[in-house]
This record gives sequence, structure tokens and C-alpha cells, in this order.
Amino acid sequence: MAVTTPPALDAHRLRADFPVFDELVNGKPVAFLDSAASAQKPRQVLDAMRDFYEHSYANVHRGVYRLAERATAGYETARRKVAGFVNAPSERELIFTRSATESLNLVAYAWGLDNLGPGDVVLVTELEHHSSFVPWQYVAHRTGAAFRAIPIDDHGELDLDALATVEGEGTVKVVACNLVSNTLGTVNPALKLGAWAHERGAIMVVDAAQAAPHRPLDVQALDCDFLALSSHKLCGPSGSGALWGRRELLEAMSPFNLGGEMIRSVAIEKTTWNELPYKFEAGTPAIAEAVGFGAAVDYLSEVGLEVIERHEHELLEYALGRLGELPWVETYGPVPERRAGIVSFNVEGVHPHDVAQVLDWEGVAVRAGHHCTQPLMTKLGVAATTRASFYLYTIPEEIDRLVEGLHKVKKSLG
Ligand SMILES: Cc1ncc(COP(=O)(O)O)c(C=O)c1O
Repeated sequence: MAVTTPPALDAHRLRADFPVFDELVNGKPVAFLDSAASAQKPRQVLDAMRDFYEHSYANVHRGVYRLAERATAGYETARRKVAGFVNAPSERELIFTRSATESLNLVAYAWGLDNLGPGDVVLVTELEHHSSFVPWQYVAHRTGAAFRAIPIDDHGELDLDALATVEGEGTVKVVACNLVSNTLGTVNPALKLGAWAHERGAIMVVDAAQAAPHRPLDVQALDCDFLALSSHKLCGPSGSGALWGRRELLEAMSPFNLGGEMIRSVAIEKTTWNELPYKFEAGTPAIAEAVGFGAAVDYLSEVGLEVIERHEHELLEYALGRLGELPWVETYGPVPERRAGIVSFNVEGVHPHDVAQVLDWEGVAVRAGHHCTQPLMTKLGVAATTRASFYLYTIPEEIDRLVEGLHKVKKSLG
């Protein structure tokens, strides 16, 4: 079979779509290396939201007047786009939420509280984001289920040999794992873990918050049961996320939030639930944000997810090479082939917050802290790291500025 390499991405050209790159910080253009926290927004997304507010805004699913019909059409078109983006078999299985965090809480509460109990095991990983760790830890505690985490090895990869031990500890009911680690960039073997989970009758919950912006996603090929993503990490607005779930599971589940929209009928004696996906969308949703989410998905699809993935990979290799020139910088995580465009590192003898502060003076925006992965920090034996993360608009010159900034950090604080 012929292997086709996706064409190269022209990041300089794409940057013209993002108004933020016209901004100066301390008189310098911003080198934005914090896309893993949240991505910048192209005009196409901003225009779609403005256009919606100016010409189609009303509440959804309620009015019979034309504006309300237009609003509903905009919202439901966005649902179709996001469902298509993850190759969902049906758009009814695509629930709009506020964020990936809310999507993961929805599953933990609405599935977990009714399906877990003593003797069961909930399995997460040591490199989970707190959003995929804490809800399961809490619900396991509430239901009496055991809570375990797959450890990572010295390369920042999941140690799947540990699965054999977990098995002896009870009935594994849930495996929850991110597809891409937000701290190390590790691309996790979600397909393999899902197969292992299914062989044991467990569900597989994939946190794709960090994968969805950067690589093609297909819930059917991944053969998972739930998948969470958020809009703000893929160039869409904040306040909007999505959960895809297998229809039969969603249908069997109790609701998560209760109120308007999610009901079929309400009486003093009894309330019944609406059909999917509305059963899980109580109250007025983030309507324009969903429209922006849909526009972001269109934008990324037009650029091409394979092309974005390859671009980030090239940047990652470049960054690891350049950081490798600095013997006083320690980087964490697996080999480039096994990771996405995220680099966590520490500068010898300097706290990550100070590193980030000096870099900011140079107009370089990075994240410093535990990245909502405290169990991983404990494993690495550090309190925090500095993290640089790349996206479709990142250019190698920004990585050069990072390295120049690190020399200044070393000179002034090291
Ligand atoms: C891997 C991962 N999961 C979940 C989340 C939470 O996403 P959201 O901000 O949409 O709640 C993040 C955000 O940093 C993340 O990186």
C-alpha cells in the first residue's frame, strides 16, 4: 500500500487568520506556546459567532418564530459537525456540555453512581488530567468501588504490565484514559486499553481533550464507549464541550443535570426524560458557543488534521533538538514518535514559575505549574514543570525565542 505523506502546513499563512498575532507584548509579537491550555481563535470562528448573534439569535428548541428556528438550526448544525468530526454513528449520541471536564463528570456521575459498588474497580492512569481522575476517584469513593491508577514507566509511557495486578483486585468496570497526555504529550494506547476493558465487560472512557485538536479522531475505530472533548482547545470558544457516548449506554443512564429541556413530561407524581441528546442538555445551552465550536471544527477540517499532526511533530522534534543543546534543561516524556506537540521541562535550580515569568518578559507565553496532573508530578518527583505546547499556527522562530529566553533565565536566575 502506498504511504502518502500529508502536504506541509503553511503556519505563516494561517497566522493571518488569528488576530491575536497582531498583538505586541512588551513591544514584541507574542510567541504563544500555551495551546495545550487553550488555543487561539481564528477570524472564521469569531465571525461565525458574531454573525449568529447578529442574525440568528434566540433560544433554541422552543420558539416557532423564524429567529428561533434559525437559532435551533444553527445549534443543531453545529452538533452535526462535531459528531462528524469524531465520526459518531449518530448525532443523537453527541451531547453538548460546557467542557471536557463536564463531559467526564457526566459519565462518572450518571453512569458511575448507578453501576459501581463494592468489589468493582475503577481504573485510571497516573498521567490523567484531574478532570479524568478526580470525578472517578470521588464516585468510586461514594459507591465503595476500588480506585486504581496504571503507573507510568521511566519513559513517561503507561506500564501495561500492571494490568495483571489490577485484575486480581476485583471486577474492573471502568477504564478511563486520556488519548494524549497534556503534560508529557504521550500518545496513550487507548485502543489496546479499550480492548482489554471490553474483554472484562468494563467500559472505556477516553479523554480526548488534548487529542481532538491535533489528530484525526474516530470513535468507531477507537471502539470506546465515551469520548470527551472541548471546543476551546481546538480554536473554538470556551464554555462549550462535547461528550460522545454509545447510544445504548446513554439511553440506559440516569440524567446528570435536571431542569428544563431534558424532560418529556413533568407532573407532581412523576417526571419523564427527553430523548437523546436532550436528556443530557438541561437548561439553555451555550448556543453561540456551539456555533463557534462547529466553525472551529470546519476550520481545522479544512486545514486537515493529518497536516496539523505532522506540523506539530516537526515542531516537537525541532524543540527537543534545541532544548537538548541546553545541558541545564531537563525534558520529560517519551521519544518523539510516541508523543504530540507538548514539551514539559525544568531549568536546573530555577522554579518553573520564575522561568515562565522571565519568558513572559521576552514575549514568550508558556505554562508553569502542575498542569492539573499532580499524581504525575509526584511520580516525576517534581512540584511543577514549565510546558511549551504547539499548534497549527506555531512557527519554529517561536521555539528559537523560547531557547533565547531560557538562556536569559539561566543567566539571571540559574
Ligand atoms: C487531557 C485533558 N483533559 C481534560 C481537560 C479539561 O478540559 P476542559 O478545559 O474542557 O474542561 C484538559 C484541559 O487542560 C486536558 O488537557
